[in-house]
Amino acid sequence: MTENVPRLCTYVTGLDSRMSGGIPKGSVVLVEGSAGCLKSSLTYSILYQNALRGNFHGLYITLEQSRQDLEEHMAGLGMARSSQQDMESKIAIVDLGELRSFLTESGESEIGTNWLKSILKQIDSYQEEFPLDVFVLDSLNAMLSLQDKENPRVEMFHFIRELKSHPMTSFLISEVSGTERVGRGSVDFLADGIIRMEAKRVDEMVNMQMGIVKMRKTYHDRSFMPFIVRNGALEVVGK
Ligand SMILES: Nc1ncnc2c1ncn2[C@@H]1O[C@H](COP(=O)(O)OP(=O)(O)OP(=O)(O)O)[C@@H](O)[C@H]1O
Ligand SMILES: [Mg+2]
Repeated sequence: MTENVPRLCTYVTGLDSRMSGGIPKGSVVLVEGSAGCLKSSLTYSILYQNALRGNFHGLYITLEQSRQDLEEHMAGLGMARSSQQDMESKIAIVDLGELRSFLTESGESEIGTNWLKSILKQIDSYQEEFPLDVFVLDSLNAMLSLQDKENPRVEMFHFIRELKSHPMTSFLISEVSGTERVGRGSVDFLADGIIRMEAKRVDEMVNMQMGIVKMRKTYHDRSFMPFIVRNGALEVVGK
């Protein structure tokens, strides 16, 4: 009975009810979309709202933006970690600079580094402090461009399999340009879920929309839903 699987709420108003209550826990979910479609905001808000309402712990690895940049953007959307008690201990944000220091401290050289493995190590090191419920990698494309391995598809297969072996729910941000999915190989098939974010022009306006393309172990709505950001949360609007 798929209805009985434990779920992670997204707390995006109107989204959880469109997938039988939330994302099946432990899933690896791709969040895909073109530039500026609020991919980081969606995944951060899932982490933030779960820390706030569910007392959960999360790790956000940001490879494209610095931690400070990301925090400033999220504060602008009403999701400042400092505005709530204990939020800084429940949400860990690690940027590329910190990941590099972590590598140096653990005696590794950056040249030839297997970044996928070092991200898994970083997850393990946080797990020693507290069990992680939510993990975000922002973005898969940035990580693959750091990786100088010969066969990124094989590496990716192992990476996703490792993530699936963790009880936490993982979100991997994937930038797409038009229909092109840069360097992603067979990730679509390996992932348990795909949420797609789009900007849709209607006359003079650009509306943001999201749709659940795929979500294993659950019934879900397949329509593309307009959404807005209000008071630190995303809301699906309309039907
Ligand atoms: N205060 C705000 N309220 C609502 N929307 C905002 C606010 N500030 C910025 N934005 C919107 O958020 C967008 C950026 O959001 P976000 O960083 O989550 O997108 P992204 O898809 O991760 O972008 P990128 O492709 O650059 O990584 C901006 O393009 C802007 O449209
Ligand atoms: Mg982003």
